[in-house]
Amino acid sequence: MPMITAEGKTFEVAEGSNLREALLEQDINLYSAGAKVFNCRGHGTCGTCFIGVEGSVSEPTEEETKRTIFHPHFAHRERRLACQVKVMGNVSITKFEGYFGDGEDSIWTPDRGPVELPSIPLP
Ligand code: FES
Repeated sequence: MPMITAEGKTFEVAEGSNLREALLEQDINLYSAGAKVFNCRGHGTCGTCFIGVEGSVSEPTEEETKRTIFHPHFAHRERRLACQVKVMGNVSITKFEGYFGDGEDSIWTPDRGPVELPSIPLP
């Protein structure tokens, strides 16, 4: 059975599992704060489940290709829409900053949970 590593957790899923559903079942922060409420619930239209994927997964669907061809997704065509991905083997997931997950810096990686911002003392 394939293993998913994301946000410092590793867990097993059935081959062919939907990646979005598998991550949410493990309480992994797939969406940015705003997108947790406003997302398309896996229909491939909002683009907010955008993530970095390494490993064995299905090819992009037609919906995914249409949704990621425009800005801001276009700059990171190697990333995927989790809701359109089937897990076929072991995978490692990274989430990036930005409303869609379209930024340059990671929020969490396969081995590390969300970055804790340092507290700034008040003057
Ligand atoms: S949840 Fe909207 S595109 Fe994936």
